[in-house]
Amino acid sequence: MKILFSTMAVPLLAATAFAADSIPADLRETALATFKALPSTTPAVANNPITLEKIALGKALFFDPRVSASGVVSCNSCHNLATGGDDNLETSIGHGWQKGPRNAPTVLNAIFNIAQFWDGRAEDLKAQAKGPVQAGVEMANTPGQLVATLKSMPQYVGWFNAAFPGEADRVTFDNFAKAIEAFEATLVTPAPFDAFLNGDDAAMTSEQKQGLTLFMDKGCSSCHGGTNVGGEGYHPFGIVKKPNADILPEKDKGRFAVTHAAEDSYVFRAAPLRNVALTAPYFHSGKVRNLKQAVAIMGTTQLGEELKEEEVDLLVAFLNSLTGKLPEVAYPVLPAETATTPRPVSQILGK
Ligand code: HEC
Ligand code: HEC
Repeated sequence: MKILFSTMAVPLLAATAFAADSIPADLRETALATFKALPSTTPAVANNPITLEKIALGKALFFDPRVSASGVVSCNSCHNLATGGDDNLETSIGHGWQKGPRNAPTVLNAIFNIAQFWDGRAEDLKAQAKGPVQAGVEMANTPGQLVATLKSMPQYVGWFNAAFPGEADRVTFDNFAKAIEAFEATLVTPAPFDAFLNGDDAAMTSEQKQGLTLFMDKGCSSCHGGTNVGGEGYHPFGIVKKPNADILPEKDKGRFAVTHAAEDSYVFRAAPLRNVALTAPYFHSGKVRNLKQAVAIMGTTQLGEELKEEEVDLLVAFLNSLTGKLPEVAYPVLPAETATTPRPVSQILGK
């Protein structure tokens, strides 16, 4: 293999031969046994029928900083839809400039994860959406204060009425979470990989196809499979070899905090890899900025294998084919505040 890269006279020919040899004829079939293309319509969610009114309300709430106690922090602050659905920070900055404990995952395609958060502690997106509102380091608000804020703006009341007709009490914390879930269900990003799975051979480059082949042959796909190329199950981070303590900080034991089972120490949800090229830095600690480095670390920690540089390049080429197209999200015009809207809190609560 080394010769292919050092023989100056025939690099192109050699590369082509390598490509042809290493892409199996039944690549699509094999891939379809492990991965699933994104659906072409907005996915349904349990106990929350999705309507256009709910999506529109959820979008407004997602972008509204008045959901936070300070009036500064919106969901979009940390899950910026213009930058891959995350904040590109090591760990997030929230209320009062506090630094949170973990890296923010993307909200794009999050609907397809088995459960939400790095440790899967929220069963679904509606359960998840209630977390950040109340987290002291994120939005530092209370459900009561949030509902009071929303009820103080007649436009919001009108939108909740339209989104939840037939319910006695419409402006509620539950309905806030359901509207956000409906909006998030639309944040689906079809990528070249989907086009390939759906039958378009030209959608992926030869390098990307070799990378996909390698991704399955090496066993990456045993943890990163399904619709989100991950997000489907829980595995020890460091199943073969423990990562360095800066990448796997000792105090965050992952899923252990959810299940309290000894075998869940340092177990995390296999990261969903769609749009991973846009969501650096990597891992729950956010300590790795470079995608090639993240892939090499997976080789040693999860496979017990020192990946060759050209293997890492091909795997990254495949990961690039997971960068999708965001639906057009027009920035919403939000309801105006009134005399009864609670005033923002600028001091850090509890201090
Ligand atoms: C201060 C930054 C911050 C704010 C504000 C914030 N989030 Fe997050 N979000 C995070 C972090 C950090 C995590 C990961 C936390 C963990 O796993 O313990 C996360 C996780 C998530 C996830 C789970 C994704 C996955 O792959 O598991 C979703 C969905 C999400 N947030 C949506 C929202 C919504 C909706 C809002 C607004 C109501 C919001 N976030 C507000 C930082 C933030
Ligand atoms: C045994 C299961 C397992 C295997 C095999 C595995 N991974 Fe992972 N992967 C994980 C887990 C768990 C995480 C989350 C680690 C964390 O930060 O806690 C992860 C995280 C990642 C990340 C970081 C994503 C992000 O958003 O931060 C990348 C990239 C990645 N894996 C790629 C790969 C590649 C490429 C391979 C094959 C060389 C591979 N993985 C093999 C379980 C696995």
